[in-house]
Order: sequence, then structure tokens, then C-alpha cells
Amino acid sequence: YSNVGISAIEVYFPTRRVKQEDFEEADKRSKGNYTIGLGQIKMAFTGPEEDVISFSKTVVQRLLEKNAVDIQKVGRIEVGTETIVDHSKSIKTYLMEHFLGNPFIEGCDTYNACYGATSALFNAVDYTRLYGKYSIVVASDIAIYGGPSLDARHTGGAGAVAMLITPNAPLVVDLDRKVMSAHVYDFHKPNTSIEFPYVEGKLSTDCYLQALALTHQGIKQLHSSQGKTFSMSNYDYQIFHAPFNKMIMKAHAFLTQLDADQTKTDPTTDLSTIVIPDPKSMTELVKQTKQSFDEKVGPSTLVPRLIGNSYTATLFMSLASILHTEPEEKLNGKSVFCFSYGSGLIAAIWSVKINKGSDEFPLSKLIHNLSNIQTLLDSEIVTTVPEFEAVMKAREDQLNLTHQPFNKNSPQPKDALIYATENPGPVIGSGVFYLKEITHDLRRTYVRK
Ligand code: ACO
Repeated sequence: YSNVGISAIEVYFPTRRVKQEDFEEADKRSKGNYTIGLGQIKMAFTGPEEDVISFSKTVVQRLLEKNAVDIQKVGRIEVGTETIVDHSKSIKTYLMEHFLGNPFIEGCDTYNACYGATSALFNAVDYTRLYGKYSIVVASDIAIYGGPSLDARHTGGAGAVAMLITPNAPLVVDLDRKVMSAHVYDFHKPNTSIEFPYVEGKLSTDCYLQALALTHQGIKQLHSSQGKTFSMSNYDYQIFHAPFNKMIMKAHAFLTQLDADQTKTDPTTDLSTIVIPDPKSMTELVKQTKQSFDEKVGPSTLVPRLIGNSYTATLFMSLASILHTEPEEKLNGKSVFCFSYGSGLIAAIWSVKINKGSDEFPLSKLIHNLSNIQTLLDSEIVTTVPEFEAVMKAREDQLNLTHQPFNKNSPQPKDALIYATENPGPVIGSGVFYLKEITHDLRRTYVRK
């Protein structure tokens, strides 16, 4: 099947936000450290009434409704996440409640930090290319730093994206891609009793740039083996995994430098030998490339700067931001360069070509259906840092309850509740799923508001 790619996108992020300037003050940082130094405006977060399963249900149900998807045509569902709620039961199985009447759906969940959803997308696109049936890809994460990574709490975020994959799509995913992987401890989550990662911040940003250079080398080699020349000038837009805006300014700057050096052809296959610019040179490079950043990357930064790092979903929030902000007539025929990065680590360069789509899935409809981005942005509830901390404490309390040791002589009936959301109030918007209760045997029930 040809021209397989993304035919519809649904985005969700929670209502509560903290201003980065308030984090600067609370953390006793100098004014501008997070807003200018990291380039972030606000950070989205949520309480115990939402989890990555409720996020996923919200985006999938809205995707099905808005696009009147015939569920019999769906053959695969893939979920990318690093916010593990259950070590066995996949989020995909929870989503099967939205596909009643069609149990014959392949796929399950994929995890590796922020990379899982890109792997999910590749699997889904390959499946649809082979069989022609539709796939659905979900990226869903809640990024919270605390405990061993408390210093990075202002680089959290939360959100989910669902994408419908079909033949003859308006966003065709190119066959050429280059994936690299290595064993590094830059960010990992070995302690399942906390929601927080262990992070080597500087190492993670270095690894990100080294992985960018290595995958760039790889895709150049791939193109040259096909008799083509890889050049960043072939792409009208660029999206990068966006933990914070300064990271993608540096990525764009470094990539521009790497791409200009067409003489460098030596294959370097060891990540750790890749030299990245020192801080002074990087600042200079970022300055020099500001104009092309504004043109090629700028339109993708709308949502990530206002909600923060939604891990697997961030790259697709960037893609959705371009489609939401740029005029439709400008988008038709354009190419988007994509860089995915997940600590640990796995990275990929891949690309998307935009066209006007088919009668069933036109580009105009895809864009129209993304108009709820503005509604989500506008319906924010801005909180103070102490309010944010109280909500984080409530999440922690809920998680601790689910980590009580199992007692086989427990007098509690299995269906006794250990957690319930009585009334979620305005933090949950209309049509959004939330976690209604968790029973003593740790079964979760969700309802739609
Ligand atoms: N005004 C303007 N800029 C300022 C100011 C100020 N008052 N003060 C500092 N800055 C700048 C610094 O110069 C620096 O900019 P530069 O990088 O261009 O030189 C920037 O602010 C940030 O500097 P620091 O505050 O010193 O860095 P910080 O200690 O916040 O560490 C880090 C940043 C490592 C990213 C940390 O937040 C972290 O560990 N985050 C989580 C890990 C992460 O997101 N990694 C990215 C890839 S992996 C992933 O996606 C999870």
C-alpha cells in the first residue's frame, strides 16, 4: 500500500499549569534562567485523577469520533509510553473498550524513555504498508521529576497524542529512516515505587546531541548508498524531541553546522567519540542560526513551550503545532525533518511529506480537527508552586497506596476502594476521561466527564 502515513491527529494535555517564572522564584534561580535560559513558558501537570491510561482513552475516543473511523478497518494499535502503570497489562488492552466488536487488533505497548512512540509509529506504518488496514498510534506520558531528580522538576510536563495511520495519508511517512541505539545511563527509572527518574542532566543533553550527529551521519550514508544526497535544505520544517526549547535551538544549530560540512565522510560508529561544540561555541552557533530556527523550527514550538516535556508525545505535539499554526496553503507539498530521542538510549531521523490527502482524509480536515489545541491552551488553570507541590504529594500518596505489600490474610474485600475521585471539578474538561477508582486488588475504572 502506498503513501502510508498520518491521516488524523488528536492532542490532549491537562488543564493545570505552573509559570516557569514562578519556578525560578521558588527555586531561588536568577530571573530568566528557565524562561530565557531554557526557553520555557509554562509546565502542564495533573493530579491523581488522571493517568496515562485516561489520557490515552481521551485521545483515542476523540480521534474515533471526530474522524468517524470504522473500527472494523483498524488492524493494529501501538502505544508508546514511559509512564508505566502496570508491568504486565498494556494500555492497548484498556483501549480495546473503544473497539467493541473488533477484537482482532494487533499490537501492544512499547517503552524506551521518550522514544517509545516513534518505535510504535514505525511498527504501525510498516503494518499498514503491508496489509492496508488502519493503525492507531498513541503517545502518552506524565513527566514528573522529584526525589533523585528534584532539581529538574521545572522540565516536567504531561500530555498524549493519538494518530490514525492509513494509506493515501496527508502526512506521508518516508520509507528512509535511520535509527541508532546504545547503552548509556543518562536517564532511567529503576525504582518502580516512585514516579521519578534518575537523571544525569548534562550527560543526557550531551548524548542527545551525539545521537543527533550519529543518526545524521547514518542517514547521509543511507542516501548516498541510494545515489541521493542528503541535505537539510531539502526540508521546510524541522522537529526535534523537545525536553525544553533551548535543547532544540542547540540541536538545530549543531545540525546546521554538521550538514554544512559535506566533506566529513568518515563513518564514526561510536557515540562517545562524537565531539559536540563547547558551551561558548554552542552559544555562538545558536545566535548564528536564529533566523533559520525561527523559520524552520519556530512553528513547532507552540505547545511544547507552554506545557513542557510530555516525553513520547512531545515530538508529535511539535508536529501538531506546525499544522495548527501554519496556513494550510503553505503546508501542502512541504517536508518535515524529524529527530526522535529517548534516553538510555535510542534515537532516529525520519521524515514526513505533506500533501493535500484523499477525499476521505484531506489535509484540511486534519488541520481543522486540531483546532482544539487552542481550546486546551485557553482552558488552563494556572496554579502557584505550593499548589503544584500539594498536587504532586497527592499523586505520591496514591502511588504509595498501590504499593502496599499484598497481605493474603487481608480482611479487605477485593473490590474495596483504595482510591476514588468523587468529583474532579474544573480540572477535568468535558469529554475527558478520568480515573474514577482503584480497588483493593488494584483494578482501575475510568469514566468520561
Ligand atoms: N537568564 C538567561 N539565561 C540563564 C540565566 C538567566 N538569568 N541563568 C542561567 N541561564 C542559562 C544558562 O546559561 C544555560 O543556558 P546554556 O545551556 O545556553 O548555556 C541555561 O540557562 C540552563 O542552565 P542551568 O540552569 O545551569 O541548567 P540546569 O541546571 O537547569 O540543567 C538540565 C539543565 C540539565 C537540562 C536539567 O534541567 C535536567 O536535568 N533536566 C532533565 C533532563 C533532560 O530534560 N534532558 C534532556 C534530554 S533527555 C529527556 O528528554 C528527558
